[in-house]
Amino acid sequence: MATSTLLIYGSYGYVGDLIAREAIDRGLDPILAGRSRDDLREQVDELGRPGRRFSLEDPGAVDEALVDVDCVVNCAGPFSNTAEPLVEGCIRSGADYVDITGEIPVIESIQDLDGKAREAGVTMLPAAALSTIPMDCLAAHLADRLPEADHLALGVDAVRIPSIGTVRTVLEGADTEGAVRRDGRVEHVPTAWQTREIDFGRGERPAVTMPMGDISTAHYTTGVPNVEMYAMLPQPARLALKSHRYLSPVFESKPVRWLLKQLAGVRDGPSEWARERGTAYVWGEATVGDDGEGDPDERVVSRLRTPDPYVVTADGAVTVAERVLEGDADAGFQTPAGAFGPEFVFELEGVEGFFDEVTPEASSPVSSLLQ
Ligand SMILES: NC(=O)c1ccc[n+]([C@@H]2O[C@H](COP(=O)([O-])OP(=O)(O)OC[C@H]3O[C@@H](n4cnc5c(N)ncnc54)[C@H](OP(=O)(O)O)[C@@H]3O)[C@@H](O)[C@H]2O)c1
Repeated sequence: MATSTLLIYGSYGYVGDLIAREAIDRGLDPILAGRSRDDLREQVDELGRPGRRFSLEDPGAVDEALVDVDCVVNCAGPFSNTAEPLVEGCIRSGADYVDITGEIPVIESIQDLDGKAREAGVTMLPAAALSTIPMDCLAAHLADRLPEADHLALGVDAVRIPSIGTVRTVLEGADTEGAVRRDGRVEHVPTAWQTREIDFGRGERPAVTMPMGDISTAHYTTGVPNVEMYAMLPQPARLALKSHRYLSPVFESKPVRWLLKQLAGVRDGPSEWARERGTAYVWGEATVGDDGEGDPDERVVSRLRTPDPYVVTADGAVTVAERVLEGDADAGFQTPAGAFGPEFVFELEGVEGFFDEVTPEASSPVSSLLQ
């Protein structure tokens, strides 16, 4: 049987390199790809795999590069600049598409191409990363526990130093402010719109709403019309985020954004030592009939614990690519749990859960285990 061809675009970035090494360790023999000749050559020499240099600005070059490819994993963020040309190229060439975006507009624009991808027989599965695989599987699990749920609140406690690429992506999207899903639609809200004390699995922590891709994926997976995504933030970070409302004209001025992007211009991220010790606590709540006063008719809560966000991202992206290459995902726009079910998250190494709270008031025996 002919082997399938996997191409990793942005393979020499911080996360791209983690994903390339993981794919090689699993025997997937990927083609390494990106736009920089020097960075790609250096990685090709080190990892001993074939390289393919092409820019996304020329659709003809994209088509030529994808001609013999079965699946693309796009690691080149900000994805607002890279997803569209690669998705369009995949639809033209018949390759499946996977990425690690957490950007809401990118996920929404890929979802808009669902019909075209189905016609072409192409799977498009964005957000195969920490945000979204665990959150999406948790959302599907909560919807199974409470099928009539009309509101999902999801959250993550994973404080750590982000990679420079993540900082750059946040800066690119800094003018999009906050976002939640209300009545099925993405609604823009102020930065840090809602704050809440959440027990992610190690006691209550302060959290704020964040515009993460999960408000798209959890909605498409479960059909629940209202979704909020929270992230644990310590007090200084919360204040900084809130002040961003008032400082945003400063951040958005061209010279300041240029300077911040230059400062973020060094490619790096958490060390192997830090990745081995990192943990993420993932929390979710499904409710029915929440009147906004915190007194719903019914409420269920579940949790997960995962390894370090960057470890989950590399493991998750490669596991999704493997399943897509095996033909396990249908054509069209897919979410991780939509394609593979809520239990898919346990295919990733070191993920523990689902820890279900039996009643809202009862202290969860499992959450105390996690402290
Ligand atoms: N969803 C999640 O949970 C999650 C987790 C981790 C990371 N991420 C996201 O993943 C992305 C990558 O992070 P990182 O830390 O690996 O960043 P990084 O080290 O800066 O790498 C980014 C890569 O993208 C390439 N790239 C950027 N813009 C491009 C363009 N217009 N055309 C072609 N290539 C382009 C870069 O190539 P050049 O050097 O040639 O520019 C580089 O290879 C970020 O957007 C980050 O937010 C998401």
